Amino acid sequence: MRAVLDQLRSSRFEGLLAEKEPMSRHCSLKVGGAAALLAVPEDMDGLLMLLGTLRDNDVPWLIIGGGTNVMFAGDEYGGCVVRLGEGFSSTVVRKNGEWEIGAACVTAKVLAAAVRKGFSGLQFAAGIPGTVGGAVRMNAGTHEGDFSGICSEVQIAEKDQVQWVGRENLEFSYRKLKLPSGSVITGIRVVLTPEDPRLVANEMERVQEKRNKTQPLGVPSAGCWFLNPEGDSAGRLIDAAGMKGERIGGAEVSDIHANFLVNRSEAKPEDFLALAACVKNAVYERFGVDLEEEVQVVGG
Ligand code: EPU
Repeated sequence: MRAVLDQLRSSRFEGLLAEKEPMSRHCSLKVGGAAALLAVPEDMDGLLMLLGTLRDNDVPWLIIGGGTNVMFAGDEYGGCVVRLGEGFSSTVVRKNGEWEIGAACVTAKVLAAAVRKGFSGLQFAAGIPGTVGGAVRMNAGTHEGDFSGICSEVQIAEKDQVQWVGRENLEFSYRKLKLPSGSVITGIRVVLTPEDPRLVANEMERVQEKRNKTQPLGVPSAGCWFLNPEGDSAGRLIDAAGMKGERIGGAEVSDIHANFLVNRSEAKPEDFLALAACVKNAVYERFGVDLEEEVQVVGG
């Protein structure tokens, strides 16, 4: 990592470079080991310089958005965690209703702007935490829709190239966007429809209210831990298997929504891994369904 740091500093890389950065600070679960390096490029040149330097030095890396769907399980991730900086958080609204949104934009702020400016199309995403880049990467969504339904183009940086890829060439599926390894989503284009701001706000409030009633929003979590199996809901299965309130160390199966594993107090990544294994086991024993993680677990 020393060579990477030296090279970046001598090339006047602008942006944060933090060694041994605790990932608990960057993840909504508030747990996780350190990353050997956290790098936050401020603009596209910085990102391409960073990716090139990591590649030249054979240093593994991964990208996080808002850290709302990831857990760093080991004591230390030996590679570089990349997070996009300020230069990726602007939104341009064009006359034809096209919004070009930087990947580092906080989803909730984009939704607030859609209400202010009177544009419809993003209501389904009310309450989705994290950044737009992360939401597209995970094809985040609710029963009301997901990001695959609104993206007309996604901007992808790969090696030393940056290109806009049209919807027809993007392979979205449930909670997934298939991308070539080593690529980074840096922005999206969506086409929204002008609408009375009050109607947009009401619709978002309705979606958010439902979430407030059915999800544990005041406690640290990574959202739903497991993907829904085809035609069913992981939350319903975990609940019916009697796992609500089950606790290992500081990690607990929420008694509001059973697919949320929450950090009750000073949980460790091992607590979550053990609790998730317990939940999977209980659901398999009871229903013969093998749950698959939605949360991305790094190391461990
Ligand atoms: N249910 C239970 N017990 C529970 C939780 C749910 O019986 O503890 C039942 C509910 O009563 C309902 C059914 O399961 O009949 C579905 O529940 P819900 O409407 O809460 O939706 P979900 O399928 O559990 C999905 C997404 C959520 C998203 C909600 C709302 C997945 C894995 N989860 O949850 O997304 O917010 O719909 O649209 O796709 C996330 O991905 O992190 C996430 C939170």
